[in-house]
Parts: sequence; structure tokens; C-alpha cells
Amino acid sequence: MRVLLTGGSGFIGSHIALLLLERGYDVIILDSFVNSSPNVIDRIKNYFDNNNLNYNLTTIKGDIRDKKLIDSVFYDSISKFKPIDTVIHLAGLKSVSDSLINPLQYWDINVCGTNNLLLTMKKYECYSLVFSSSATIYGLGDSVPIKEDHNISPINPYGNTKVAIENMFYDLYKSNNNLWKICSLRYFNPVGAHASGLIGEDPIGLPSNLFPFITQVAIGRQKRLKVFGDDWDTKDGSGIRDYIHIIDLSEGHLASLDYLNSKQSCMEFINLGSGKGYSVFDIIKQFELSTGRQIPFSIQSRRDGDVAQCYADISKAKKLLGWTPLRSLEQICLDGWNWQMKNPNGYS
Ligand SMILES: NC(=O)c1ccc[n+]([C@@H]2O[C@H](COP(=O)([O-])OP(=O)(O)OC[C@H]3O[C@@H](n4cnc5c(N)ncnc54)[C@H](O)[C@@H]3O)[C@@H](O)[C@H]2O)c1
Repeated sequence: MRVLLTGGSGFIGSHIALLLLERGYDVIILDSFVNSSPNVIDRIKNYFDNNNLNYNLTTIKGDIRDKKLIDSVFYDSISKFKPIDTVIHLAGLKSVSDSLINPLQYWDINVCGTNNLLLTMKKYECYSLVFSSSATIYGLGDSVPIKEDHNISPINPYGNTKVAIENMFYDLYKSNNNLWKICSLRYFNPVGAHASGLIGEDPIGLPSNLFPFITQVAIGRQKRLKVFGDDWDTKDGSGIRDYIHIIDLSEGHLASLDYLNSKQSCMEFINLGSGKGYSVFDIIKQFELSTGRQIPFSIQSRRDGDVAQCYADISKAKKLLGWTPLRSLEQICLDGWNWQMKNPNGYS
């Protein structure tokens, strides 16, 4: 089975690529490398070569907005009698703060890029799609755990683009509900790394997420962690979030592919998280316990748009996909730290 994986060189895409290849999928990675390193591809290849494993990987450097290029990817596959069966679409921009400064870029890449992809999929009769949506689309509020029918009301351009894309899927599915098979997966906070330490999260510049910030403090690249608010209405005053091991999240994609294969047509919006809420102080404590490293921190004022707690109800994913996250917070800390230790400066 042939899968086109857009954004396959990024943090999440690289882990999905490795799992797909391990399970014998024929994978085409399409990535512009605007937010990832081409070294990721070498790391994936090394993993298979070092373990004497066969794999079937093609890499294409390009932009999802490039109509000619996307067309040629589908056309070439068909002309080699290996048509693309499914697309896993992750390529896009993902920084909330950057999206506030450059909203048009987010609409162009995320929304127009996805539109281009869908038009080409339709042209080549490839109707099966897994998409990376986000918990950012859910409106503010403290009702947890968050179910898929929670109100949709993002508060930044990044979230708006994810909602627009989900609406586009819905309209497309409705236009012919015997044709399209779509799973839009709403991720909570993917963290950790592959146990090999070959691939992991390598944010460009200052990390904007908690976990890579902690590992960079532990390795000495950052001085201290900023904790935004210790006066939230939670058990210890710090914000509570849902952290999911990147391999659990990746396995959710494989389960989604199996699900799509079993269906004639479908349009599902599905949360992927651990289903558990951990506070910032829980994470710091567990990281220190698991790794023996101290994480100095300072308390800062709350950030606009943050909420006290946000974690997923994952019963839909469990029921529909037969998937369940297996890895503990300790495993997340160990694997994330293993990656950071082996790659103090990331991929560079
Ligand atoms: N990491 C998270 O916390 C998180 C949470 C929810 C949703 N998501 C979504 O998951 C997807 C992957 O996230 P990630 O954390 O791996 O991000 P990432 O930035 O590491 O990966 C995205 C990849 O897409 C590529 N890309 C960007 N624009 C492109 C374009 N126009 N054409 C082709 N390639 C392009 C980048 O080079 C990068 O390799 C994104 O769509 C993101 O919005 C991520």
C-alpha cells in the first residue's frame, strides 16, 4: 500500500514515517524542509540500514501549494503502476504566536495548500485521507475532558486555519458521501521521541512548547524554564495539559489507516491524546525523577489565551480505531531525554 506523507520530515511526520515503513508501507515523503532538516531522512534510512531491514521510501522536496509538483507526484505513481492509496497530510505551519504575526501565510500554506492537495487527490481518484488537526480548535473553557462535540472556537489564526480545513473536508464529504474516507485527528500535545534516539523534536529557535523547553534546560541550552502562572485553579496552581507519547500518536495514524481501509466512506473528527491531565509541576517532577536532572524554573504571569486545564476525552478513538495510548509519562521523559542527550544540538 502506497502512502503520501506530507510534512514527513517534521517532528510528528518522521515518527509516523518510521512506523509506516516498519509495517511495510511504501512511503513517499513530501516536505519543503521549511521547518525541518533533510538530515531527518538520513536518520530514518540509517535506522533501517543499521538493522538490516527492507524499506520502501521515496523523498520529494517540494511545497504542497505547488500544483504542478503535486500533480506529478500522483501522475508518476500511477504511471509506475503504484498509485497512491492514501494521503497522511501533516505539512503546514504550526506556531500560534507566528500565526498572529503572519496570518496570511498560515491561510496560504495550511488552507490553500490543503485545497490544492484535495483537488489533486480528486483528479487522481485518491479518496482516502488522514489529517493532522489540533486541540487548538476547541474554545476556551474549563469543561474537561474535552469531547469531539465540544464547542469549536479557536482564538488564533493557526486554529482558524485548522477549522477551515475541517470545514472543507466536511463540505467535500457531503458533496458525495459515498466517495471520501477522511479521519481528521485532533492532536493534544505530542511529546517524547523514538526510543532509538535517532529522531525527535528539534524546534527551530526558542521552543514554544513545554517539553522541548525542559529537555533544552536539562542539556544546558536554556537557563531556566518559564512557568506561566502558578495561580490557576488547579491542584498545584500550574496549568494542566494532555501529553501524549509521539509513538502512541503515530500508532493512532496506523489505526486510522486500518479504519479507513475497513470503510466504504466516512468523515470522522477524532481526538488523539493520552486522556490524562498533568500539571506543569507534575511534568517537572517526573522529568527530574526519571532523568536525575534538575530543572530550574521561574514563575511568570499567565499568558493570554491560556486556560487552567485542557485534556482529551479519547473514548471515540478507543472505540472507533481500537487504539489506546500505552506509554507512561515516565517513558515520555526517558525517551525525550535520550533523544536530547544523543543530539544536544538537534539535527544540526
Ligand atoms: N506538534 C504539535 O504539538 C501539534 C499539535 C497539533 C497539531 N499539529 C499539526 O501536526 C502537523 C505536524 O506538526 P509537527 O509538530 O510535526 O510540525 P513540524 O513543523 O515539525 O512538521 C511540519 C512539516 O511540514 C513541512 N512544511 C511546512 N510547510 C510546508 C509546505 N508548504 N509544503 C511542504 N511541506 C511543508 C515542514 O518543513 C515540516 O517538516 C502540523 O500540521 C501541525 O499543525 C502539531
